[in-house]
Amino acid sequence: MKKYYIYTYGCQMNVHESEKISGFLVSRGYTKADRVEDADVVVFNTCCIRESAEQKIMGNIGAMKPLKKKRKDMIIAICGCMSQQSNKAASIKQKFPFVDIIFGANNIEYFGDYLDEYSENRKYLEKVVEGNYQENEVQPTFIRDNNLYAYVNIMYGCNNFCTYCIVPYVRGREISRSPEAIYSEVKDLIKNGYKVITLLGQNVNSYGNDGNTQITFSQLLETIANFEGDFELRFMTSHPKDISDELIKVMARNPKISKTLHLPAQSGSNKVLKAMNRNYTIEDYLAKIEKVKTAMPNITLSTDIIVGFPGETEEDYSLTVDLIQKVRYHNAFIFMYSARKGTIAAKMDNQVSLETKHKRINELLKIQHEISNDLFASLVNNQIPVLVESEDGDWWIAKAQCGKVVKVKKEGDNLIGKFVRVNILAYESGDLIGKIV
Ligand code: 5AD
Ligand code: SF4
Repeated sequence: MKKYYIYTYGCQMNVHESEKISGFLVSRGYTKADRVEDADVVVFNTCCIRESAEQKIMGNIGAMKPLKKKRKDMIIAICGCMSQQSNKAASIKQKFPFVDIIFGANNIEYFGDYLDEYSENRKYLEKVVEGNYQENEVQPTFIRDNNLYAYVNIMYGCNNFCTYCIVPYVRGREISRSPEAIYSEVKDLIKNGYKVITLLGQNVNSYGNDGNTQITFSQLLETIANFEGDFELRFMTSHPKDISDELIKVMARNPKISKTLHLPAQSGSNKVLKAMNRNYTIEDYLAKIEKVKTAMPNITLSTDIIVGFPGETEEDYSLTVDLIQKVRYHNAFIFMYSARKGTIAAKMDNQVSLETKHKRINELLKIQHEISNDLFASLVNNQIPVLVESEDGDWWIAKAQCGKVVKVKKEGDNLIGKFVRVNILAYESGDLIGKIV
C-alpha cells in the first residue's frame, strides 16, 4: 500500500486544504503514513505570511535531502502560499533540485491531476497559475483528521490589500462559493456527526460582494444555523469594517451560532491603522465591540495584533496596549511585523528595529496573558456549554467555546461527542475544572 505524509503550515485555510490534498491521495489508493520516512509522497503545504514561516519551511524541505537520496522513488511536492509567490517556484527548485512537483495555492484542487501526470512520466512538474482560486468540478472527499470539528470554505482570496499583507497577492481576488455547495457540504457534515462547523474565508463578511450570489453573509449564516441537528456554527475571519448590525443580530438570536468572534484589530493607533489601509478608526472598532458585547454579554472575543509596523512610535504602541486593556480579549494573536516583498509597507522607509519589535511583543504577550488568565478564572462558579472530546482516566476532556480545555469528572453515560453544560468549579494550572449540571 502506498503512503503519504503532509506537512501543513499556516492558517486554518491551509489545514483545510491539506484535507483536500489527502482526499486526492486517498482516492488514488494512498493511506496516511505515521512517519515521513515511510511515505511515498510527501507534500509541503506552505505559508508565507511572515518571513519566519518561510525560513522554517525552507529548512524543513532541505532536511528531506538525505531521505530522498535513499529513496529515489519518493515524490516530494511543494504547494500553498509560499510557492504561489511570483518566481518562487524557480528559486525553490534551484535550491532543492530533488523536489518533484511545485504547484500554487490557487490550483490545489488539481493536485490529483498533477500527481497522475508525474507518476506517469516522472518529469519535474511546475504548475503555478497566476490569478484567482480555481475550483475543480471533480471534488475530492475531504479526509478530515478530526471527527468533531470541521472547516467549510465559503470564499477564497482577499480584496483588502492591507499594506503589510501578502495574502491578496498570492490568493487573488475574493470568490464566493455558491450557497448550494456550502449548504450541501454542511448538511453532510452534520449528518456525519460533526459538532462544530467553522465557515472559512479571509474576510467572511464580504461574502457575496463579488456578485456570485445575492445572499449576504448574515443570511448564509442564519440559514445554516436553522439546519436540523445538534451542532455549533462558527466563522472566521471577520474584517472590522464589514461587521454589520445585521450580523450581530443574527449571532445573538441564533443559539447554534457560537458566541465567539475573532475580530483582528491589528493596532490601537489611528495613524498606524491608516498606514495599514485598514479602513476603520479605533473609535469605529470600539463602537462595534461595544455593540457586540451589548447584544451578547457572554461573547468570547479574540484578535490579531501586529507590533512594529513601519513608523509605529512608543505612543502608537501604547495605544495598542490601551486597546487590549480596554477590550479584554480572551485570546490575542500577537505578531512582529515582517516585511513581505511586493507589499506597500515593505517599501516604507521608517522600519522599526528588531530589538524594539521584540521588546513590544514580549511586553504585550505578558499583558495579554494576565488578561486571559483573569477571564478564565472569572468563569469559576459560572455555567458554560462545552463539547466533550475525549477521556483521560476519571475525566472527560472537553472544550469551552473560548477554546479552553475543561476537565469534567466522569459520571453517567459516555459523553464523547456531546455538548453538555458544566458548572466551573476551579481554574487550576491552566485548565478549567467543571461538573456536569
Ligand atoms: N507581518 C506580521 N504579521 C502579519 N499578519 C499578516 N501579515 C503580516 C506581516 N507581514 C498577521 C495579521 C493577520 C494575521 C493572519 O497575520 O495580524 O491578521
Ligand atoms: Fe491580509 Fe488584510 Fe486580507 Fe486579512 S484582510 S488577508 S490582513 S489583506
